[in-house]
Amino acid sequence: MLFTIALIAAVLALAYHFYIKIFFYWERKGVPCEKPLPVIGNMKGIGSKYHFRNINQQIYDQFKGKSSFAGMYMFFRRTAMITDLDLIKQVMIKDFNYFQDRGAFNNPRDDPLTGHLFALEGDEWRSMRHKLSPVFTSGKMKQMTGVIVDVGHRLANTMDKLVKVSKVDDGNVEIKDLCARFTTDVIGSCAFGLECDSLQDPNAEFRQKGREIFTKRRYPQSVQAFVFTNPKLAKLLRMKILPDEITKFFMSAVKNTVDYRLKNGIKRNDFIDQLIQLRAEDQEAAKSGKGIDLSKGLTLEQMAAQSFVFFVAGFETSSSTMSFCLYELAMQPDIQQRVRDEIENVLAEVEGGELNYDSLAKMSYLDQVVAETLRKHPLLPHLIRECNREYKVPNTDIVLDKGVNALIPVHNIHHDPEIYPDPEKFDPSRFDPEEVKARHPMAYLPFGDGPRNCIGLRFGKVQAKVGLVSLLRRFKFTASNRTEVPLILSKKAFLLGTENGMYLRVEKI
Ligand code: HEM
Ligand SMILES: *[C@@H]1O[C@H](CO)[C@@H](O)[C@H](O)[C@H]1NC(C)=O
Repeated sequence: MLFTIALIAAVLALAYHFYIKIFFYWERKGVPCEKPLPVIGNMKGIGSKYHFRNINQQIYDQFKGKSSFAGMYMFFRRTAMITDLDLIKQVMIKDFNYFQDRGAFNNPRDDPLTGHLFALEGDEWRSMRHKLSPVFTSGKMKQMTGVIVDVGHRLANTMDKLVKVSKVDDGNVEIKDLCARFTTDVIGSCAFGLECDSLQDPNAEFRQKGREIFTKRRYPQSVQAFVFTNPKLAKLLRMKILPDEITKFFMSAVKNTVDYRLKNGIKRNDFIDQLIQLRAEDQEAAKSGKGIDLSKGLTLEQMAAQSFVFFVAGFETSSSTMSFCLYELAMQPDIQQRVRDEIENVLAEVEGGELNYDSLAKMSYLDQVVAETLRKHPLLPHLIRECNREYKVPNTDIVLDKGVNALIPVHNIHHDPEIYPDPEKFDPSRFDPEEVKARHPMAYLPFGDGPRNCIGLRFGKVQAKVGLVSLLRRFKFTASNRTEVPLILSKKAFLLGTENGMYLRVEKI
């Protein structure tokens, strides 16, 4: 009896100690902060009442201009929200060595597909990024554009069929899923070497798996939250995160393609070809290199993990960008027509009128339209960096400890009326060259910045633009009786997305 009471008292004391240690961290440091609740910190209502960008907005509005950063708690994680653009530049670029990692879960030993570029840390990340950078040069992009343009034709043909049947329903077409099928086919082709043809068949296996990545869970929500907030402990406990059938599917997709290409000597100038070039001659020797040493090349698991992240990071982001863009163009027909005129004018100069990397680069207004789309609708609400050693914040006496997170509130910066007047207005002239020059370089971060920015930035933009050009040449987009004004955004998904898809009236030109 006495023992039990002592035990309970000890546990309570420990929990209290832990609570004080964690949740009074910012107060002890003298950093202005939003008051946390036990366990959930400042995450009250996340995914139900609020999206992450709403939670960030409360803190941003309260502290911006008063302090270069403010304290918050993502569950147990002590997080510094940085609101000052100069300090953001310091963290992302100048003092990058302190803030190299994201503190995301990865456990390549037990869960091979988590050994991908987005989640890797330390030296493993460094050597993988170094290995993969040549895969994304503009020269390589140029070679891959042909594959993307082909899929663009299929996109327009599929739209043609949808338009015919939509006549009875006020011309309504659901744009979001169609765009996702386009980018699934592009990335399936470039990163897995497969003709997935989800444009033809909306339920193609690859598209199914793409949806499942965002919907299927290995564990219930609570265990999931534990893994994400305690990634190091979870790795130590040898926990996994991906459901086995997803791992099996993507591993075998890559293995089959690699075997097939090697056996038949096929080259297509896509991601898979380049990963094959990086492949280890001797798979066993590569494995014995403790996983960190990539000087011998990539193992099949490492190749599959990179293909997997290209797919995950590439299809939803680019397809959402396309559908947000079409939505804004449907709301402003004059801007839509101006983009279309530019496309036709540029292509009239090209032999055969066919789109390619160079003609795409000449479409400067299209570039501004896509840039403004990503300003108003940045896919990631914020960026995260984890401090890997003590960091004295410039112009303050405050030292951030190892393990503390820095959060860069991209969505809130993009919607700050002091930076972008009338932020809800879609206005591509914000990206006129002299306007861009006049703004702080950290005022626009849809792809992050510094050495850990989006490696697929060029690919993502080319992909979205090819899709948009294919559609805008042949179709006109307007608001239908199902178009939401304003759009209803999902609170559940981490990436910015609509709650009910995206309906527009589409007509053949
Ligand atoms: C419009 C499309 C896209 C958007 C808006 C986007 C956005 C982002 C953002 C915000 C980050 C985090 C950057 C940071 O923390 O500073 C990121 C990282 C990343 N993205 Fe993208 N992305 C897009 C397309 C793509 C594509 C097509 C690929 C691959 C083919 C890709 C692969 C990656 C990878 C691998 C990382 C992690 C890089 C690293 O940690 O070294 N992304 N992306
Ligand atoms: C939109 O219009 C079509 C045809 O006029 C009609 O059948 C449909 O019910 C309408 N949908 C909504 C949501 O009002």
